[in-house]
Amino acid sequence: MCGIIGYVGRNAATPVLLGGLRRLEYRGYDSAGLTIQQAGGLRTLRAVGKVARLADKVRAEWVEAEVAAGHAGIAHTRWATHGAPTEANAHPHSDATGRIRLVHNGIIENYRHIRAKLEAKGHVFASETDTEALVRLIGEYHKGDLRQAVIAALRRVEGAYGIAVLSAAEPGVIVVARKGSPLVIGVGEGECLVASDPAALVAHTRRVIYLDDGDVARVTADSVDITDLDHAPIDREIAELTFEAGAVEKGGHAHFMLKEIHEQPETVGNALRGRLDLVNGTAVLSGMGATARELLDFQRVVMVGCGTSLHAGMVGEFALEELAAIHAEVQPAAEFRYRNPLVDGRDLVVAISQSGETADTLAAVREAKDKGAVVMGLVNVVGSAIARETGRGVYLHAGPEISVASTKAFTGQVAVLLLMALKFGRGRRLSGERGQALAAEIARLPKLIEAVLAQDAAIAAVAARMAGHDHAFFLGRGPMHPVALEGALKLKEISYVHAEGYHAAELKHGPIALLTPGMPVVVLANRSPVLDKVLGNAEECRARGARVIAVVTDGGPPVAVADDVIRIPDCDPLVATIPAAVALQLLAYHVARLRDCPIDQPRNLAKSGTVE
Ligand code: AGP
Repeated sequence: MCGIIGYVGRNAATPVLLGGLRRLEYRGYDSAGLTIQQAGGLRTLRAVGKVARLADKVRAEWVEAEVAAGHAGIAHTRWATHGAPTEANAHPHSDATGRIRLVHNGIIENYRHIRAKLEAKGHVFASETDTEALVRLIGEYHKGDLRQAVIAALRRVEGAYGIAVLSAAEPGVIVVARKGSPLVIGVGEGECLVASDPAALVAHTRRVIYLDDGDVARVTADSVDITDLDHAPIDREIAELTFEAGAVEKGGHAHFMLKEIHEQPETVGNALRGRLDLVNGTAVLSGMGATARELLDFQRVVMVGCGTSLHAGMVGEFALEELAAIHAEVQPAAEFRYRNPLVDGRDLVVAISQSGETADTLAAVREAKDKGAVVMGLVNVVGSAIARETGRGVYLHAGPEISVASTKAFTGQVAVLLLMALKFGRGRRLSGERGQALAAEIARLPKLIEAVLAQDAAIAAVAARMAGHDHAFFLGRGPMHPVALEGALKLKEISYVHAEGYHAAELKHGPIALLTPGMPVVVLANRSPVLDKVLGNAEECRARGARVIAVVTDGGPPVAVADDVIRIPDCDPLVATIPAAVALQLLAYHVARLRDCPIDQPRNLAKSGTVE
């Protein structure tokens, strides 16, 4: 997610903006920029890398008098979604005249259509971003009143946005608008601020106005005037910020991991946005760059990844084979790169990676390319090495994942793999009716995740009965087997409990010897064709004194074998992998919290394995 800060008031804007950007750095970003309103017009500086580099450019290129004279400005930290992290793609972006500047957080879904129409009118775009299409459209409508022009443009935009806009023609005025991306206005004494996150403004004022979707506000040093997109006035309460800036950085959560777990309705929604075709029961994945014929010609899909990304690929394997009747397999990237893999031009190799920088996965991409396979990336970080070297694929749009333990990236990866399986399937034997039913189930995911998050307290209570144990098993079958592996990985890496994910049927072939009285065994017992087999495996564990924690489908039959029950909403067994994973993320989080572990930075771990 990008960071936005704006200021208008009695002080110089530049130091306030740079301070606000520093407060937003925790969100992760790859470039930054600011625009200041001055007597002669608008002055803009942008820099790739950290805010410190932008501050260096301000010191080097703007004289103090200029800085002191600018009392209104906007600034931005960019988390790339469209276009690599370059200075040209950094915000603020300009309209054709250079007299309007805009910063944006979100995704303009119909930007290609807007851009094509503007280019046909002679616009020459300076960046690859979706944002530039929006500011140029505003410039097209601008006849002197900035808010009118912004509203006229937003009425033609599809997607999510939080924006702040300046015009050289209206000194001391910032226009802001939100739809799907947060924006808050800080009301001070003789000054106002706007930001994507209260963390950026809490040092100046605790009096805030949270904008709602559809709001457009005209902000000056001593006024905030809000309307909707029909110009109807809107009255919003002034609220009082109740937490310290430090906590606000985590959205009020104790850890980034918990914040990112709770972001998942939004981030999975971002992964699906504009990609689900509910009418035709298929998916729209333009980034794959594959024609229907090409998709039909692939003989096999090979997924490669590491850790959590490997587990996501294992879910994808089930989805592709069930929905697309295509041979699918998943290999640890470190294995694939050295085994002289049997792939060729008839195979699609999908590299799955949150960071897009994992050394083994990158090497697997290169090996696949050397063998002539078609390669694609399923990546979160735009412009990362794997994204660049595959050259095609699907971005997760999950925003920066700060916590070492991967959560929202996993659910984003699985969501995209479900979309890929749907797309492949509809290009093969999957019927329109079945496709529509699945698309509708996939579209429910943000609500399904919310239903699990609402059980946080109940899951924490289950965790309290697990936290004293140093060993645990996680059992699943079918697509829930990789979810069991992922749940065990989460518990291992943040609470240091020795947890093993296992195929439920395999336990009896040896590992069941490890069971001791009271040992926690988490069983994924959701509605599925093999539920009775899973319950039988749980019974085998209970009979040997284990404490069974069952993840069950809400509304299903009582699970007598369970000592504890965690409920997930009823949904298709493939789709259920995501709410089930969220439940296990919360379980691991609370066990680690109760064991006083450093949850966001576990010992021995780094966020990205850029070495072998
Ligand atoms: C997951 O919680 C871990 N942080 C780790 O397994 C991670 O998934 C793995 O290192 C792969 O990273 P990537 O997705 O960035 O390639």
